[in-house]
Amino acid sequence: MSAVIRVESLNKTFGRKQALFDLALSVEPGEMVALIGASGSGKSTLLRHVAGLACCDRSGGGSIQVLGREVQAAGRLNSEVRRLRADIGYIFQQFNLVGRLSVLQNVLLGCLGRIPRWRGTFGLFSAEEKQQALQALARVGLADLAQQRAST
Ligand SMILES: Nc1ncnc2c1ncn2[C@@H]1O[C@H](COP(=O)(O)OP(=O)(O)O)[C@@H](O)[C@H]1O
Ligand SMILES: [Mg+2]
Repeated sequence: MSAVIRVESLNKTFGRKQALFDLALSVEPGEMVALIGASGSGKSTLLRHVAGLACCDRSGGGSIQVLGREVQAAGRLNSEVRRLRADIGYIFQQFNLVGRLSVLQNVLLGCLGRIPRWRGTFGLFSAEEKQQALQALARVGLADLAQQRAST
C-alpha cells in the first residue's frame, strides 16, 4: 500500500512570514509519528494543511495526499475535500467540543461529512450511526458518559 500521508514541496506564507518551507513528509501504514518542534515552528500549520483545513501557497507546486487521495495541490483544495475530511480524524488543541450537546452527539458530529446535509442539520442520526459512536466511546472507556453534557 502507498503512503497514508504524502506531503511534497509544501510552502505556506503568512504575509511576509514563511511558516512552511519546501516541506516533504511521508507516513506509511501502521506508522505512528510524533511531530515535535518549538512553539511557532509550524506544527499546527502543517497538520491543518494535511487535514484540508488550510491551503498552501501556489508557488512551489506543493501537494498533499491522504489515503491515496489528493487533499490539495499548488494552492488549491480538492473539490472533494469535504468528503475526504470525513475520513481524517483531527483532534483540535482546544477540542472544539459543543458543550451544550451530549458526549454521544459530539462523537456523532464526526458523521457530518458523510451524511446528507439536512440530516445533519436536524441531528437525525441512524441507529447504526449511534451504535458506531457508542462503540467508539466504549473503546476509550467513555461509554458510561455518553448521555452527559459535554460541558460537564
Ligand atoms: N493564521 C495565521 N496568520 C498569520 N500567521 C500565522 C497564522 N497561523 C500561524 N501563523 C504563524 O506561523 C508560524 C507557525 O505557527 P504554528 O503552525 O501555529 O506553530 P506551532 O503549532 O508549531 O506552534 C508562527 O510564526 C505563527 O505566528
Ligand atoms: Mg500548534
